[in-house]
Amino acid sequence: MISENQIEEKVEELLEELTLEEKFKLMVGFFRFQTNTIPRLGIKTFKVTDGPLGISQHSSMLRKNTKFPAGINLAASWNRELAYECGEAIGREARAINRLCVLGPGINIGRTPLNGRTFEYYSEDPHLTKEIAIPFVKGIQSQRVAACPKHYVANNQETNRRTIDVQIDERALQEIYLRAFNDTVEEADPWTIMSSYNLINGEYVHGSYKLLKETLMDKWGFNGFVMTDWWATQNWGVTQPTTEEAIKAGLTLEMPVPILYDKEILLEKLNKGKYTEKEVNNLIRRLLRVYVQVGMFENEKDLPIGERNSKRHQELARKMAEEGIVLLKNEKQLLPLNIDEINTIAVLGPNVKRKFGKILLGGAAAVTPPYEITPLKGLKEKCKEKVRIIKDASKADVVLLFMGLNHDSNKKLTSDKITKDKPEYGKESEVVDRTEFGLPTAQVELIKKILEINPNTIVVLNNANPISMEEWIENAHTILEVWYPGMEGGRAIANVLFGDVNPSGKLPWTFPKQLKDSPAHKSTKTFPGENLKVFYEEGIYVGYRYFEKENIEPLFPFGFGLSYTTFEITNAISDKNKLISKEDSLTITTEIANIGERAGNEVVQVYSEAPAKAIDRPLKELVGFEKVFLKKGEKKSVEIQIKAKDLAFYDTKKAEWSIEKGKHILHIGNSSTNISEKIEVDYKQK
Ligand code: BGC
Repeated sequence: MISENQIEEKVEELLEELTLEEKFKLMVGFFRFQTNTIPRLGIKTFKVTDGPLGISQHSSMLRKNTKFPAGINLAASWNRELAYECGEAIGREARAINRLCVLGPGINIGRTPLNGRTFEYYSEDPHLTKEIAIPFVKGIQSQRVAACPKHYVANNQETNRRTIDVQIDERALQEIYLRAFNDTVEEADPWTIMSSYNLINGEYVHGSYKLLKETLMDKWGFNGFVMTDWWATQNWGVTQPTTEEAIKAGLTLEMPVPILYDKEILLEKLNKGKYTEKEVNNLIRRLLRVYVQVGMFENEKDLPIGERNSKRHQELARKMAEEGIVLLKNEKQLLPLNIDEINTIAVLGPNVKRKFGKILLGGAAAVTPPYEITPLKGLKEKCKEKVRIIKDASKADVVLLFMGLNHDSNKKLTSDKITKDKPEYGKESEVVDRTEFGLPTAQVELIKKILEINPNTIVVLNNANPISMEEWIENAHTILEVWYPGMEGGRAIANVLFGDVNPSGKLPWTFPKQLKDSPAHKSTKTFPGENLKVFYEEGIYVGYRYFEKENIEPLFPFGFGLSYTTFEITNAISDKNKLISKEDSLTITTEIANIGERAGNEVVQVYSEAPAKAIDRPLKELVGFEKVFLKKGEKKSVEIQIKAKDLAFYDTKKAEWSIEKGKHILHIGNSSTNISEKIEVDYKQK
């Protein structure tokens, strides 16, 4: 890898050579996913690709590429190594087709269960989000391909996404929405960042001096460059920043076409003294730095070798799908199915044969794979001569109902009559938000009917956002959440159903019982907004932070997920009972035993509780976790590192992170509500 000195030398050498006109050329996109070249200096086109679930077809000259499970599946795995491997594999796929930047990860926080893009993102919780984002970015960049965390920041809904003005207080902005970006920048050093479409407190992000220059660059030390989201700078009916405002804010690259950075405008404003060439140089330096980092000026043979659609990438896609599956209910221990004891299964529902990997299906994150294993295909492979797959639920030993949402309009679903006049119903996709919290009515009817016909029914769900289950959950004793499991999904599902894989996914979201329990859904002001303003009145109380504060029982709590075995967490101790600075950390060691009948993985989670309450703090906040594998009967010690800075709140008066003096309690368990151990730690500043 090229040293920092070498990078800076090369950057200055190039900058010296560039003419003003050439600099202007570098500040704008060329065609949809490229930038301009300057052949005389060896500056090639910087090709970018969507992201973040694999290499999209629409930005890779219509190629088919490995379709990994959705971001929400990865987050539900709570597995940092898998996040790294996934990033690395996507980096290799990008390299294989000469793309130098992957437009991902998507790390916006889950605020409302109606957001169309939840499947691309990770969680309602900033800690889990960053813990997945950091290795993912490192993985991509290990291939000398730039990552591009997006959409910076608070793009939490699709309704009016290009014009909505997010009204948010400083503390919520810092603690909930900026936090994962902050830590990802500081710990993974992403080479680019994409600004979001929306405005924050009256300002477009791509023109915000506060959010780009002051926060991202000066405070966090971001060294890469900022690009806009696509066509964000057009006139959408809300005043755009001026060219000089965008320059001073620190926006380097306007995508995909020049508007603010049109060369005539740039020149005119420079001549009028609205900004200086020195300011442009600083933007170009950032861009050139990345060009050097991705190896633009090096010999191909010295760079990492690309790889696409390989067996190991497909196997990784399957493993990710398996690890993200969450077992929500298994009250009668119907799962895992015993292949030697069952003769027939009925396989029903609209998602039995559904393929999710089609061009632009769901938006920019769509990946079209060379093949896609549907649930039916996965089951056929698994069952072969052993179990007969039938259609008649009344005659089957077990019924599998494949239900849920999709990225498409439900219009095509013939079984779903209600959607004829509600085309978006059931759809989770970029550009639109969901319109209903429940499953399409025809699906609800089907679930109820089948549950009556055959009590041995398992509901398998595709969805990223929480959905209402109110109307049918009481009678459904077995529910599996599989999200959008990617090209190997059908195999992963069959492996979990038949017990080859013991489920270990945990919810990265609180599932509310009803939409109005969700903190974003108090009024149309809080979602989807009124007069192009959306009010984040809940402040820092997003997700489980809100449910715990208001004592609202969720349908399923954050961090929850069952296993086919049982774990016991005991004897937690800490190597320190005192922390003395924000840079300090401690290690919790806890015992965990697998006391059930099968091997499996468990996620040990740690939540912090701040000392009594001079400052308004959530009851608990996730500050650490570790996923461990235990054989049947095995007992292990798990170590979990807790960083003092994760115990902090954002002090708006001082404009900095601060930790209250006194006793912080660390709650250790296997979900946000199932706590087995507690440890007290004193925070005493030196
Ligand atoms: C999306 C981005 C995407 C870009 C390029 C935009 O509409 O919001 O996430 O990377 O298009 O396709």
